[in-house]
Amino acid sequence: MTKKTTTVEATTTYKLNVEEVRKDFPILHRQVNGKPLVYFDNGATSQKPQQVIDVINRYYQHENSNIHRGIHTLSQEATDAYEKARTTVQQFINAQHNHEVIFTSGTTGSINLVASSFGKKHIQAGDEIIISTMEHHSNIVPWQMLCEEKGAILKVIPINEKGELLLDEFKKLLSPKTKLVAVTHVSNTLGTINPVKEIIQLVRQHNSTLDGNVGGNIPPSGGQRGAVILIDGAQAVPHTKVDVQALDCDFYAFSAHKMFGPTGVGILYGKEAILNELPPYQGGGDMIKTVTFEKTTYNELPHKFEAGTPNIVGGIGLAAAIDYMNHIGIANIEAYEHELLNYATHKIKKIEGVRIIGEAANKASVLSFLVDGTHPSDIGMIIDKLGIAIRTGHHCTEPLMNRFNIPGTARASFAFYNTKEEIDTFILALERALKMLK
Ligand code: ALA
Repeated sequence: MTKKTTTVEATTTYKLNVEEVRKDFPILHRQVNGKPLVYFDNGATSQKPQQVIDVINRYYQHENSNIHRGIHTLSQEATDAYEKARTTVQQFINAQHNHEVIFTSGTTGSINLVASSFGKKHIQAGDEIIISTMEHHSNIVPWQMLCEEKGAILKVIPINEKGELLLDEFKKLLSPKTKLVAVTHVSNTLGTINPVKEIIQLVRQHNSTLDGNVGGNIPPSGGQRGAVILIDGAQAVPHTKVDVQALDCDFYAFSAHKMFGPTGVGILYGKEAILNELPPYQGGGDMIKTVTFEKTTYNELPHKFEAGTPNIVGGIGLAAAIDYMNHIGIANIEAYEHELLNYATHKIKKIEGVRIIGEAANKASVLSFLVDGTHPSDIGMIIDKLGIAIRTGHHCTEPLMNRFNIPGTARASFAFYNTKEEIDTFILALERALKMLK
């Protein structure tokens, strides 16, 4: 047996046959601009395995019907499939109850739901909301809009040069006026995996110092309300095991399309007690118990937050994506992607003039970079001609770009169906592009 020499190989701890896995993803076998596709834009959206595509096709071919409304067989089958999907999500994130899982249009929809509903009930002039420098626009703008409407104040946790949150600074931002902390689990631009458990514990400790509060966010009787915590998990759920009970977050938001499921559907997890006391987000069918012109009473969780016909096939497709991820094994996904990231980082660092943006000690498989004397979009355009898809620009994180004083980056983001050979192809293409641009 040959001795394993490189640190990259020595870290191998997964059981994942990437060539077998790739057979499940039809799109990976197409050509782009006459070259085999190398898809490194997984942070924007992931590709879908045949198993998910089949479930979506089958739904429209054999099961399509509206849910929660019909007594006929098709409607009942569709309702059962949709509610089973909710339970699949519940088990995937280890929520205590399946009615704590709210189907939304995606992470953005989930965050807007909380900003609107929690904001309406609990945010007043002078209250404070804390976010971080590395948030996606979808975890900035809803809070800004809320602050503007209510006269509340937005505070921002700073980061260091490596792209890590400064927790000591975070502690200083917490005050009796803090009503909500909204932080990303994994940065879409830097790849930083934030210590969200520690952040949540810090908020709980802070809450426990408030008059009459016992460490939770709902005072037992008449005490000071502490801060609630929302975690944006859009970039975390595809790469790592998430356990909302172990985290003890109040809200956790994510999207199906970044985790090998369909677009237009996502999840808001919320703790039962908090969801129960919030007003509905949107009005319409399914979210009501009774309607008269004088008064409407609202439905129980989760339906209270699911007005109108939902993305039924989206929810069922998300469950199929979760089944697929479970079949591959999340620990395998995480370990393999870590290896891809190490391999790519090691290789790209050898190219003269490369600067990696985001060098946190704890990173997911996102590689953002700049090359001296070149513009990221020029790099993106040239390597696209060679079949390689990366994202360039500000990645919906303009304030983060301002923090680094850069206009944008080039970003390669990997999934478990990517290979080291693809990384080699990307590095060669990058070198070729740089020769043309310099
Ligand atoms: N948030 C997605 C990305 O990072 C669109 O590309």
